[in-house]
Amino acid sequence: MFQQLTALPADPLLGIAVAYRQDTNPKKVDLGVGVYKTEEGATPILTSVKKSLQILLDSEDSKSYIQARGNQAFLDGMEKLVLGADNPLLSSNRVESVQAPGGTGSLRLGFELIKRGNPNAKVWVSGPTWANHLALIKASGLESAEYPYYDKANNQLKADEMLEAFAKLGKDDVVLLHGCCHNPTGEDIPADLWPKIADLAVEKGFTPFIDIAYQGFGVDLETDVQGVRHLLSRVPEALIATSCSKNFGLYRERTGLLTTISETPVLAGAALSHVLNIAREIYSMPPSYGGATVGILLADEALTTEWKTELADMCARMRTLRALLVDKLHARGVDQSFDFINRQNGMFTFLGITPEQVQAIRDEYAIYMAGSSRINIAGISNSNVDYIADAVAAILKK
Ligand code: LMR
Repeated sequence: MFQQLTALPADPLLGIAVAYRQDTNPKKVDLGVGVYKTEEGATPILTSVKKSLQILLDSEDSKSYIQARGNQAFLDGMEKLVLGADNPLLSSNRVESVQAPGGTGSLRLGFELIKRGNPNAKVWVSGPTWANHLALIKASGLESAEYPYYDKANNQLKADEMLEAFAKLGKDDVVLLHGCCHNPTGEDIPADLWPKIADLAVEKGFTPFIDIAYQGFGVDLETDVQGVRHLLSRVPEALIATSCSKNFGLYRERTGLLTTISETPVLAGAALSHVLNIAREIYSMPPSYGGATVGILLADEALTTEWKTELADMCARMRTLRALLVDKLHARGVDQSFDFINRQNGMFTFLGITPEQVQAIRDEYAIYMAGSSRINIAGISNSNVDYIADAVAAILKK
């Protein structure tokens, strides 16, 4: 049977990490996979997370199964974090959440639920979007299509074209929106556009599916989700896939949740039953550790305060690195302006170089980034920024 299989190419993002690890150049720089790094290039466990983990280790008294929907303190804490503690949706019985293995697992559950609700649904993704979105939609048996999002030539949002595309949608359409810190562009939907998207969703009947993997990495925990909260307050139905990989630094613990908002409590119960059934058919129940840790953290005021400070520090550092890179590039007299990098949010931006230039910068300088020229801002440091700027300037001037 396996003779029928031929080897697949490496994953477009995870493959970069493999290639980087194998590179023996001492000057190599990893701007690939979206993982936060310190000035020293490390990805340490956050202190607040480590303390919560210790509490878990000291108090956990069984390895029996956890409930199928996951850790309750985690689900309650995360719903409050994303929706806001005083959001009337939380007491409406229209919201249900299920813990899932990371943002990817949460997205997959969501797409499978859509497939059950409407096998003919089409999922609209931003052009461009995170590469794995397309793979997950396809694997769920759904059709996907692209809505205009980023103008690569001018490094700006295609706001009017995006709204025009949404105005043509209807009840069979799902619109996948990045809640904040758009991956891969860093270009976010501005505050004044979210109500317009909400108007169209209500008028045309399409379903928003929000992917939130970077809450707190843009401006701050509250500002980053204002637009999302507005949209969710207006629509009868929505899905939200939330990841704790980045803002809690729990990458390898595969910690996330799928939240559904349904029109009525009865429909919410039905949606929940399907999500649990889908999960049962794939992996039964989520891994316990990440959710239990975040559950402990969010239920403890002091730990939450400490985590918020650590998160704000990561966010501020990435802001500084954006400015540093822009200054260094401009200091080298490159023709184009890179000011857009300062306006954008989160971990990513497009350098705007061609795939051939991406390959050249990798071959000649051992600087690794996605083929789209997406760079992970957190991979920049005071010690490598001159090397990066020299390389980019040299490649651009060729
Ligand atoms: C990324 O976009 O680099 C991250 O979200 C990691 C991943 O799983 O692709």
